[in-house]
Amino acid sequence: MSEAQFIERCRRSSQESYEALEELAANLEDPLRRGESLAFFHGFAEKALRELTASEQAREYHFSLSKLALRLEDGGETRLLLLQLPSTFTPDKWSFTFFEGLTRYRSAEFQDQRIAELGCGIGWISIALAKQTRPAKIYGLDINPRAVTCSRINLCLNAYDSGGRPTWQHEWKTLDHVVEFHQSDLLEHCRKNRVLLDRVIGCIPQVPNPDPDFAARMLAGSVSGQASDELLHALSNYASAQGHLEDELGLGLIARAVEEAADVLRGSGKVILTLGGRPSTQVLERLFLRRGLKVQPIWNTRVAQAKDTDIHGLATIEERTPHRFEFYADHGGGVPVCARTAP
Ligand SMILES: C[S@@+](CC[C@H](N)C(=O)[O-])C[C@H]1O[C@@H](n2cnc3c(N)ncnc32)[C@H](O)[C@@H]1O
Repeated sequence: MSEAQFIERCRRSSQESYEALEELAANLEDPLRRGESLAFFHGFAEKALRELTASEQAREYHFSLSKLALRLEDGGETRLLLLQLPSTFTPDKWSFTFFEGLTRYRSAEFQDQRIAELGCGIGWISIALAKQTRPAKIYGLDINPRAVTCSRINLCLNAYDSGGRPTWQHEWKTLDHVVEFHQSDLLEHCRKNRVLLDRVIGCIPQVPNPDPDFAARMLAGSVSGQASDELLHALSNYASAQGHLEDELGLGLIARAVEEAADVLRGSGKVILTLGGRPSTQVLERLFLRRGLKVQPIWNTRVAQAKDTDIHGLATIEERTPHRFEFYADHGGGVPVCARTAP
């Protein structure tokens, strides 16, 4: 595929753009074809970033590129070049809060450890954590295949410069030796491949899906090989029922993640999750204690509820049951309000 063909395919439709990017990912991962693909795509990215805004790029190519600046432990800064498809989660306050929580640990917490990141989205947290803390391995896992394609491309773009030179090395290993991305329903990949872990980290959905037909629509899309961007994007915001006690409060996915982690964590392993406080601290603590885990809060902050997440389902639960969710009207102190009265 020539550069002109690649661009032409991306212009045609979101599906064709995804297919062209899958080929790009495979080329970037192949040591024999990597050099040529890196030179082409770094050059393309520079021009696109210079000339078009993210929404113009998305309209033109059905994907967009951005640069994300992150502070390093030593006070320096690293910049990640990130590609994203319309069906994937855009890094926002919720995910920056998660990353900030991770960086509040000393880097020894992750150094030389084997880690899985659940719901890695476009991969930036796994890539940034590897650069900052030098783990033995990070498996970035996501159920959305398009998120995994973005992650694989983002890994190569940030592991090598346009001349194919590694941008980061530790004990002779480049970033793509340390980080791997796989499509996986929670820890499915590690369980199937008998991978043992020291840390399971994640920022996964905790609001019940308001679409009663979601599972059937998703299945129809998977069978035809073409789930819509909108449907795939909903995987970022909403948790479907998992057959767990905590489903109704939106915590079924978290409950299943904790149970699956027990199968793959070594003795001194830890599960580190970012949890929305909405269902209340007591409910969250009970979820872990019931499954035999000790709970240690690392830090708390207030993050605005994402505007694209529909919380009406939580208000309906409050109408049917005595449960009250907890929202705060402002960033200061104050008494929480329930979902029915949350602004
Ligand atoms: C809120 S987004 C966070 C993405 C990324 N960690 C970030 O912060 O930018 C949640 C991610 O969880 C993924 N996800 C949802 N259900 C999942 C499941 N059962 N297994 C793995 N990933 C899942 C979604 O596809 C989405 O990428």
